[in-house]
Amino acid sequence: MQSEFHAKLFARLVDVGEPRFNLAHERLLNMIIEADVLLGSAILLGTALTEDEWHTLSGIFDELIAYAKVHFAEEMDHLRTHGYPAADQHQANHDALVEELNFFQRKVMQNDDANINDIRRWLLEWLLGHVNSQDYDYAQYFAKIKAEPIG
Ligand SMILES: [Fe+2]
Ligand SMILES: [Fe+2]
Repeated sequence: MQSEFHAKLFARLVDVGEPRFNLAHERLLNMIIEADVLLGSAILLGTALTEDEWHTLSGIFDELIAYAKVHFAEEMDHLRTHGYPAADQHQANHDALVEELNFFQRKVMQNDDANINDIRRWLLEWLLGHVNSQDYDYAQYFAKIKAEPIG
């Protein structure tokens, strides 16, 4: 069952005007929450993660990185096809996120409990941080274009 905290995260995800991208964001958030359940219960109980749990977490990260890359590529394709003026900047934002994902993936692979809080904090932050500001920027841009009278 989903916690109230996690349900609130879904509620905070903005609509970016493209149903398939909204779905992709939800799918990414699902993976993040799966990882957060693991990390959160360890933090709450004050226990270390077992080797199995680190392994599970690493698997979630693999999936998260792979799917984030697919989503980023699809989004960039859409933005460039539709002439989004800030496409290069958006690409740079995605590239920076992939770097961060890889950085934290390496932290996960260290299996060091000292990193649990950092990993958790960042995991909960990056997706909403990007979607609700940088993706929302293109949503607003395209919504404005659509609303403008032709000619
Ligand atoms: Fe996105
Ligand atoms: Fe994006």
